[in-house]
Amino acid sequence: MTRQFFVGGNSKMQVTFKSLNEIIENLNKAELDENTEKVFAVPSIYLSETKQRLNPSIAVSAQNVYGKNTGAFTGEIAPTQLKDFDIKWTLTGHSERRHIFRETDDDVAHRTKGALNEGINVIFCIGEKLDERESGKTKQVVEHQLNSLNKDISKEEWSNIVIAYEPVWAIGTGKVATPEIAQEAHQDIRQWLKTNLGQDAADSIRIIYGGSVSHTNCGDLAKQPDIDGFLVGGASVKPEFVHIINANK
Ligand code: G3H
Repeated sequence: MTRQFFVGGNSKMQVTFKSLNEIIENLNKAELDENTEKVFAVPSIYLSETKQRLNPSIAVSAQNVYGKNTGAFTGEIAPTQLKDFDIKWTLTGHSERRHIFRETDDDVAHRTKGALNEGINVIFCIGEKLDERESGKTKQVVEHQLNSLNKDISKEEWSNIVIAYEPVWAIGTGKVATPEIAQEAHQDIRQWLKTNLGQDAADSIRIIYGGSVSHTNCGDLAKQPDIDGFLVGGASVKPEFVHIINANK
């Protein structure tokens, strides 16, 4: 089964209204690979404006969402509120949410389930920290993150998920995983999908790589059999994002 290549940009908290407008203009005039699915995540305050202005071939995504639709949850955004603005994607479990804002595997599962309940697609982020890799725990950490979600969602719901494998040590550091290291982790995740959800799910669910992806390394990473695209941080707010979107051309 061929999986459609998928490139997500995550602008994090790196944009202002002015710089976001420049990014939108640059993407709108660029020639982008039609065969690649494209998503761009912006801070929530800019979701509506970006949705109105960005080339509709690029879906607009939230960077996080809460697991409930209403209630006293100051500072959070509900899945139904994303729906109000026709936002069809969100990230969950980004490493900055897990490690700076202390979201646990269970918190992330709750948020992911809430989004799926409202028909919002999820880029579900997982990955190990440097000390976990160095102590040989990568597989264990990643599998725990996957198992925590799997206990809350059905096999069918997995089809609305793209898994982003983002080793924490590679995020924003310039230390990209080698194609071999990334491929090995992706292969392990695909094996987990096969064991827990079956061959069809393993063949169809996209696993994308994130962590210091740039225009210079995206080509070699894209050639790996289990790398189905990218989640791009720093480079997504630069003109080189166009080159990364077109990495599979
Ligand atoms: O969401 C994106 C990842 O955190 C990767 O960020 O490309 O700046 O390393 P980065």
